[in-house]
Amino acid sequence: MTMIAQQVTELLAKMTLREKVGQLTQCGNSIYNDDYKIGWELLRQGRIGSLLGIGEVEQANELQRVAVEETRLGIPLLLGFDVIHGYRTTFPVPWAEACSWEPELARATAAASTREAAANGVNWIYAPMIDVSRDPRWGRGVEGAGEDPYLVGRFAEARVKGIQGETLSDGWHAAACAKHFVAYGAAIGGKDYNSVDLAPQTVHDVYLPPFRAAIDAGAASVMTAFHDLNGEPCTGSHYWITETLRERMGFAGVVISDAGSTDQLKVHGYTADDRDTAKTALLAGLDVEMCFGIFTYQEHLEALVREGAVPVDTLDAAVRRVLTLKYELGLFEHPYRDVKMAAAALGGDGSRKLAREAARRSVVLLKNQDVLPLKKTQRMAVIGPLADDREEMLGTWSGVGRAEEAVSPWDALKTRANASHAKGCQAVEPSPALFAEAVQLAQNSEVAVVFVGEPRSMNGEGKSRTSNTLPGVQLELLEKLKATGTPLVVVVIGGRPLVLTRVAELADALLFSGALGVEAGQAYADVILGEYNSSAKLVNTFPTVVGQAPLYYNHNNTGKPPVEEFFWTSKYLDAPIKPLFPFGYGLSYSRFTYANLALSQTAATGTEVIEVRVDVTNTSAVDGEEIVQLYITDPVASLVRPVKELKGFAKVFLRAGEMKTVTLKLPLQSTGFHNRKLEYVVEKGKLLISVGTNSADTISQALMIV
Ligand code: BGC
Repeated sequence: MTMIAQQVTELLAKMTLREKVGQLTQCGNSIYNDDYKIGWELLRQGRIGSLLGIGEVEQANELQRVAVEETRLGIPLLLGFDVIHGYRTTFPVPWAEACSWEPELARATAAASTREAAANGVNWIYAPMIDVSRDPRWGRGVEGAGEDPYLVGRFAEARVKGIQGETLSDGWHAAACAKHFVAYGAAIGGKDYNSVDLAPQTVHDVYLPPFRAAIDAGAASVMTAFHDLNGEPCTGSHYWITETLRERMGFAGVVISDAGSTDQLKVHGYTADDRDTAKTALLAGLDVEMCFGIFTYQEHLEALVREGAVPVDTLDAAVRRVLTLKYELGLFEHPYRDVKMAAAALGGDGSRKLAREAARRSVVLLKNQDVLPLKKTQRMAVIGPLADDREEMLGTWSGVGRAEEAVSPWDALKTRANASHAKGCQAVEPSPALFAEAVQLAQNSEVAVVFVGEPRSMNGEGKSRTSNTLPGVQLELLEKLKATGTPLVVVVIGGRPLVLTRVAELADALLFSGALGVEAGQAYADVILGEYNSSAKLVNTFPTVVGQAPLYYNHNNTGKPPVEEFFWTSKYLDAPIKPLFPFGYGLSYSRFTYANLALSQTAATGTEVIEVRVDVTNTSAVDGEEIVQLYITDPVASLVRPVKELKGFAKVFLRAGEMKTVTLKLPLQSTGFHNRKLEYVVEKGKLLISVGTNSADTISQALMIV
């Protein structure tokens, strides 16, 4: 038995039933509301084991003091917080950052965010969000890493490592929480919280792999999602929590419900009342109840155990997992945080530098008709509702980030270029009152740089959309500006794949990113002025019209693949076959060509690792970075397979004119899928290996798996 296991056993032996249930009860920061005074009393009685949303070190210390000094057993608290892309220093939203295709960058920003949060008393971070998101209508894709299970998995692993570090107990790290288990992103119609109806194979091939990656990286906890998956609400599902997550995937850490999702079991019609909910959730394998008004564990578990409806062993196992985490975090030894160190940990040059680096690496160049980069001396009109809005730079879930610490594009460009500013219109309101001034400014400028997009209030939790257009009169503004004849650089900021069809026609150059955080303005300026050569690529397919949703590159092959000229094929009457921009798409000020794709062997067994080599040349006069992408296609299989699947990538730097042979490793074990019996298989036969600059533009070679 390890030392921690021993300590937990001893502590558990001293606990009353009520105290045990307390460890599984999480209360919100409502404990600080005047009308929830009873919360403090419950805390003193050891009936609360963790809290959510405590964002100040003084409060964290005060709560820990009550737990440690005023409860019978002195058990410290888990203090959870949504540090999604920064605590005080706001980094790019995860979806934007994923466009860097640099998991190591995400690891660094997760570590920097955690450092700030942990120094301020947070020991449990509700990230990474690793829901694969294939539907542009769903608002929560902004918290994740896009539509591809492999890429989401790489970011899951990196962010878990960033949050947890080498050792959980050093005071600078926290427990990560992989969420939302599972397939939350597959909500029918892209409508948040909606039911999910999925083939089990799809759950296993698409939605579980990122959780596998997070678990392998050591994630200390997992959060169950709100929705019902094939009829079973995730929070009350023995099949998903115990049989799948714990038994099949080997996860041994803490499972917490999403906010109030226990209470919702009743609303789903899955449990009869709160007592039934408490029983169902605990027996399903749920440890901690993240309460939102209703405390089903606190109210009913004790009686359920006494009456024999819930075995005490099941309760003990859950409590054991929570206590183990508390010991692993070193909370029994160091429950408090040093207030001076807490303040000193916030922000600072190092974080700002990292924030800028992460931000500029997250800007995707989608179109450039010889307009960008701009010269500093060019007379530049900086226009648009998002050009000078610091709050918008922070994006959704911005922790304790402060708008006044953010740099807007106008803040940056007014000092770094020959720029003038006009707002042009509001982001959401339909009032065109400000058009005239912007049009006049564009007329008098050599180039107009227009910052438009979807405000942060329109993406994130509960923010599903059905149109995905630029809200308000922003498109009209672009039309008016286009009519001036002044070259138009359009920068779109958004939290989902927006419909940019007309925008892309109007723009002479087009940049896209999610909210970039405190250094957003500098990052856009870096790219626009050519001080950073953009290298980012989209992690979602962008639709031409929202009716194409759900839309993802790795869809199954149909029996009637789409052909433009042939009516009886799989397509829409009124939308193109192709998306506006494919997954993995992104330009650079450099240009790259691919040639000489070669495999280390043309036949291999399913357990071998092959090498895929390709010559990539920078044919331009500008140094730059390219993201080389490796896909597979299994053309004949016992179940229909996706037309393409990402299996690897590499970011390479190439000087102007330089050629490099890029080698990517492909473990053939990773090319399999779950068959009808849900066994993972790598079948024999042909496999197409494709490499290229995006998912649609690749060169291929065949391999035989023997
Ligand atoms: C969200 C979670 C979040 C939790 C706690 C929920 O509404 O779905 O992602 O961690 O709130 O704030």
